[in-house]
Amino acid sequence: MGHDEKALESLMRGDRVVSPTAATTAAAYIQDYDAEYRRSIADPEAFWDRIAKELEWFTPWRKVLDWNYPWAKWFVGATCNISYNCLDRHLNGWRKNKVAVIWVGEQGEERIFTYGELARQVNRCANALKALGLKQGDRVTIYLPKIPEQIVAMLACARIGVIHSVVYSGFSAPALESRIKDAESRLVITADVGYDRSKVIKLKPVVDQAVANCGSVETVVVVRREKPGIALAAPKEVDWDDWLAGEKPVCEAVPLDAETPLYILYTSGTTGKPKGVVHVHGGYMVGTYLTTKYVFDLKDNDVYFCVADPGWVTGHSYIVYGPLLNGATILTAEGKPDYPNPGRWWNLIERYGVSIFYTTPTAVRLLMKYGEEWPRKYDLSSLRILGSVGEPINPEAWEWYHRVTGGTKPIMDTWWQTETGMILITPLPSVPLKPGSATRPFLGVEADVVDRTGKPLPANEGGFAVITKPWPAMMRTIYKDPDRYLTYWHTIPNCYTAGDVCRKDDDGYFWFMGRADDVIKVAGNRIGTAEVESALVSHPAVAEAAVIGKPHKTAGEAIKAFVILKQGEHESPELIQGLKDHVLQELGKIAVPQEIDIVPSLPKTRSGKIMRRVLKAKELGQDPGDISTIEE
Ligand code: WT7
Repeated sequence: MGHDEKALESLMRGDRVVSPTAATTAAAYIQDYDAEYRRSIADPEAFWDRIAKELEWFTPWRKVLDWNYPWAKWFVGATCNISYNCLDRHLNGWRKNKVAVIWVGEQGEERIFTYGELARQVNRCANALKALGLKQGDRVTIYLPKIPEQIVAMLACARIGVIHSVVYSGFSAPALESRIKDAESRLVITADVGYDRSKVIKLKPVVDQAVANCGSVETVVVVRREKPGIALAAPKEVDWDDWLAGEKPVCEAVPLDAETPLYILYTSGTTGKPKGVVHVHGGYMVGTYLTTKYVFDLKDNDVYFCVADPGWVTGHSYIVYGPLLNGATILTAEGKPDYPNPGRWWNLIERYGVSIFYTTPTAVRLLMKYGEEWPRKYDLSSLRILGSVGEPINPEAWEWYHRVTGGTKPIMDTWWQTETGMILITPLPSVPLKPGSATRPFLGVEADVVDRTGKPLPANEGGFAVITKPWPAMMRTIYKDPDRYLTYWHTIPNCYTAGDVCRKDDDGYFWFMGRADDVIKVAGNRIGTAEVESALVSHPAVAEAAVIGKPHKTAGEAIKAFVILKQGEHESPELIQGLKDHVLQELGKIAVPQEIDIVPSLPKTRSGKIMRRVLKAKELGQDPGDISTIEE
């Protein structure tokens, strides 16, 4: 990584340590991280065995872990159901009428579900899935805006062993189509529209276009939000309310083998084809349950607000599964942090008495731009624990977030990935913080920073972040592509390679510095350079394209594309706009390059591989490092 190191070293920060207040530590489940961590990794299987027993299983496991490198099975022989643990476990006691979900719409509307009511909706939906003939192992694509039906549909699938594939509603028709095709979904659940800063975003036409070429899809269920309702083409298209009407609010959760797939979630990698990350019921349940509980120190009287969209993994693990497994009260809000004004989230925190707030560095930087007067307008004294996820949080944003929320609330900078399923490197509320560092591994998790050969590096040397032992919520495979799964564990022998560059400091604190591969993080969203390149190349005027990530003040990184035009094509503002529109059509808004340069050639190796790092170094005015393999 030679040349990267120098650039990344400049990111190294001072050693400000922010100690937890006595009150925070006194209230925390885990008060002595070092001792608990040592105990957990002395015998991780005993640790996870003990934790798993806090949840309900239909039949117990014979063995905690079956590790056949790099294939893992957790809670071998056990049967369970994550939906049962998210709902039924709470219905037999006082939580039956506890608020499970408070949803606030972009237009200010509010819907509140107790655990009892959420369970009834989920059961109706599970019965409706069965009525369509869906059975264990079938796939359902959920393409919904951030509305409660998304949560209901996920839990309903899980309840009967149907595998859900949630696709973020910002993806365009071709991106949705390829995900439906790969999963061979029999059902798509969507809505007529989503709202974005009060603009109506039509989703149904996107689904129509995607499904036209998907032979596997038998039914499309539509949540109709607009009045009058859009026309639906029966019998294939069904209204959500009609679909559930008449279904009984009781549906027994099916006891499933712990290794039964729960969901597929597509994420970007180094190739143009997204990877279908597969998570299973048992281990994922244990991992998301415990991390939610300990990282956020979640107690029964907390109000937990995570700003993610269930279209991404954060929504899966830390809006839906982790918090519901803990019987929490969850606040979820549709819409942007600065609409109708930049006080939106602070207002919600005041209105609902939010005590745990989990957001992203990009959102913090966006709100920073509007100034401290916005958070100052609201009473934020209910806040207790803060969180950050998706990309490194720069110390300036950290300090601002810390200051405007009262100056004493600990920030949990949680490092993890779609593939890891659960938070892996993170503080706990009682751990001394260093702004900009995700601190140390979670209990039962072993991680390190190593060189290409797997040799652990000394403190303060940049290298690859790896996880050295299996953990319960780890992905089990890449859907239909086990070879791609193997690359995670074979790149560096005997470890899981995360794809991140990192260093550990003298105290063993991890400082994540960005991706080591061709993945860009735009506003915390993961975008593969190859996906954007292939979208650009599919434009009739484009011969070749290369895409890089470039530092951006609020989004962390922005996409920049270099494009070679076909003979006879000429650069013009219309053409540049046309290329951007084309990427919008092919992939969606999040993948549109902010800048496009038309160039006569691209730096390539003799074997024809585009050297993106050379483009990037040139763009940023840095030393491109070793260019001996360059051809052009
Ligand atoms: C990549 C995974 C984890 C849920 C959302 C993103 C980056 C994530 C942090 C953090 C530094 C972080 C890494 C990682 N990342 N959290 N706290 N500090 N980097 O999931 O889309 O699978 O992306 O996000 O680069 O590899 P994802």
